[in-house]
Amino acid sequence: MERDPVDKLLDAVESGKSLITNREILHFTYIPDTIPHRNSEQEQITQTLIPILKHSRPSNLLVYGKPGTGKTLVVKKILSQIQKRVEKSNFPIKLVYVNSKEETTLYGLLVSFGRELGLVEEKLPSTGLAISEVFKRLLKTIEENHYNIVFVIDEIDHLVHLVSKTGNDVLYQLTRANERLKKATLTLVGISNDLTFKERLDPRVISSLGEEEIVFTNYTVEQLKKILEDRIQLAFIKGAIEESAINLCAAMAGREHGDARRAIDLIRVAGEIAEREQSNTVKEEHIRKASQKIEEDKETTALRSYPLHEKLLIIAVMKAAGLSTGEIYSAYKSLCKIIRQKELTQRRITQMLSEIELSGIITGKIIHQGIHGRTKKYKLTISPEMVKNTFKDELTFEDIL
Ligand SMILES: Nc1ncnc2c1ncn2[C@@H]1O[C@H](COP(=O)(O)OP(=O)(O)OP(=O)(O)O)[C@@H](O)[C@H]1O
Ligand SMILES: [Mg+2]
Repeated sequence: MERDPVDKLLDAVESGKSLITNREILHFTYIPDTIPHRNSEQEQITQTLIPILKHSRPSNLLVYGKPGTGKTLVVKKILSQIQKRVEKSNFPIKLVYVNSKEETTLYGLLVSFGRELGLVEEKLPSTGLAISEVFKRLLKTIEENHYNIVFVIDEIDHLVHLVSKTGNDVLYQLTRANERLKKATLTLVGISNDLTFKERLDPRVISSLGEEEIVFTNYTVEQLKKILEDRIQLAFIKGAIEESAINLCAAMAGREHGDARRAIDLIRVAGEIAEREQSNTVKEEHIRKASQKIEEDKETTALRSYPLHEKLLIIAVMKAAGLSTGEIYSAYKSLCKIIRQKELTQRRITQMLSEIELSGIITGKIIHQGIHGRTKKYKLTISPEMVKNTFKDELTFEDIL
């Protein structure tokens, strides 16, 4: 007799085949006690911030490095260690951390900052003021309370990206706030994984924000292995991961640029897959499956986030009789007809194809056709099943998949 699927899973839990003992340790918010391979970065950043404990102004600081190189981790750890010392003293020192990516507006970011300084809704409303007024109120509080502040803006490139002109202005004002403060100080720490971000900044902002700069280098495969081993020891039962699996995981995460986040994600997902399969250990095959799953999840999220016509176009690429832009456009038009949507022009669609190509979901190739000139041919880089499965729950597409 076929076993009940629910009981099967519940039995597995009861029979104790869980490999992961502490899932939280594999979560991206977990801060380990020791951070291997980042001693000199920790020292440099701490050195830069030390003046805050002596009531003088630390230099502004820019922290750079590719994704997953430990920037957020290191800065947060240092902040929490300084914070512990600050709490023992009565000094008006404030350490504030915000992430630009988590804020939808510049206004929101400044209000978050204000709240950390104790500015309540009546003093600093969540909407409605001009940015310059928000700024004025922030500076007033800082000055009146004689605060010495370290203000960390993580993923600072987003701030500039979202609101290029205002973002630059605000950064400029923030970096120069000290000139307007007499009894207080404000130090800015910007963190970014976009190495070209500086090019988009106002030169005045660069010179001020970049008083000090620290670059986090990419981890080597060996370093990733050590980071993984430390984490595994805390999060998995003893002997849960085969040596070859750890090696593969480190190698895969090191392939592009030595990304510790990717390494930890891989091991977590591999652990979950191995548990589900009721395997006694995590093997190389689980790491491979995990990598595939992470890739697919990324693609699904990307597909879902497209607006309607982009989605139609992706379906058209999947269904078109040929691959040329003209053939794809015809397929797109017939899809529009079926779901009663007004079609966009061929020009707009050609442009849209190039935009989608940037995401990597489709790929294009220019074909020279002798006297007929040239055309660009597109095809999907992901499987048609992936497209169908992702869109099948959307009612609009019911009749065209
Ligand atoms: N040296 C290290 N030791 C232990 N864990 C690390 C180390 N470096 C990074 N990690 C872990 O890797 C993950 C990514 O690190 P972190 O979030 O600090 O990267 P980041 O440089 O801020 O990346 P991004 O630019 O994408 O924000 C986190 O889970 C972090 O705990
Ligand atoms: Mg980060």
